[in-house]
Amino acid sequence: MTTPSPAPLALVTGANRGIGRATAEELARRGHDVVLTYRGHAEEAAEAVEAIAALGRTAIALRLDVASTEDVARFVPELRAAIRDTWGRDTLDVLVNNAGAGADTRLGATTADVLDALYATHVRGAYLLTQAIAAPAEGAPLLADGGSIVNLGTGLTRFVHVGRDAYAAMKGAVGVLTGYWAQQLGSRGIRVNTVAPGPVETHFSGWMGDEKVRQVFADGTALGRSAVATDVAGVIASLVAPGSAWVTAQRIEASGGYRL
Ligand SMILES: NC(=O)c1ccc[n+]([C@@H]2O[C@H](COP(=O)([O-])OP(=O)(O)OC[C@H]3O[C@@H](n4cnc5c(N)ncnc54)[C@H](OP(=O)(O)O)[C@@H]3O)[C@@H](O)[C@H]2O)c1
Repeated sequence: MTTPSPAPLALVTGANRGIGRATAEELARRGHDVVLTYRGHAEEAAEAVEAIAALGRTAIALRLDVASTEDVARFVPELRAAIRDTWGRDTLDVLVNNAGAGADTRLGATTADVLDALYATHVRGAYLLTQAIAAPAEGAPLLADGGSIVNLGTGLTRFVHVGRDAYAAMKGAVGVLTGYWAQQLGSRGIRVNTVAPGPVETHFSGWMGDEKVRQVFADGTALGRSAVATDVAGVIASLVAPGSAWVTAQRIEASGGYRL
């Protein structure tokens, strides 16, 4: 039988790369053990686990496609068994709903399939996973009382980039859910917040390494530079820390003051 670990335990979805990976590592730096999920890049997930081990914390990687209802249903009991086997624990302290992908959409050029895929990932997937972990219809919740949830939103709910209408609308829904979940889970001491990044140089944004685009985004910020994943990870880690214990139901934009 494993001795229960005293370290706080975080689940970060979509943490094989980008903001999720940076968040998993930042949480580890601040003393968390981490369950990270990946969808299709097992080798990147294994690297992330090693990076966290090098920071002196324990991490495991589990496969999850949040856009698939069946996969979420398969994942949750696997998660429960894995944290029991690895840490001797029955609960998690932090859930970061980070997994996500974009799509180019605008009126006149958007199919129902693209809309469904965006909804399945950003709204239904995050909803069903959070429900299964924080407030299951049956059995004890995996998310401990006093825990914290961070949902990834986007600056695009405040400003407009042509070609992002449906994606931004899904993230708008995430912001609404944040408030409702904060109200429902608050009596258990669980805080729920949204972190809304501006443009960040990751695979998601498709402009990695493009100096011209980087400059346009840099010029659009008050702080005069473009963003990398660690700029957002630090905000997420600060929000789940005890110093943010009185912050819930908030949308915190991490955009360097983009398009003020
Ligand atoms: N980068 C930006 O400019 C920006 C701005 C605002 C908000 N965001 C949000 O920040 C979050 C992280 O994005 P990122 O920039 O770090 O992008 P990224 O580098 O492309 O990473 C996205 C992560 O999510 C995973 N993922 C995608 N679809 C998934 C699904 N259906 N099920 C499970 N995992 C899935 C990916 O897994 P695979 O690698 O296996 O595909 C990857 O681990 C997303 O919610 C995104 O909407 C990003």
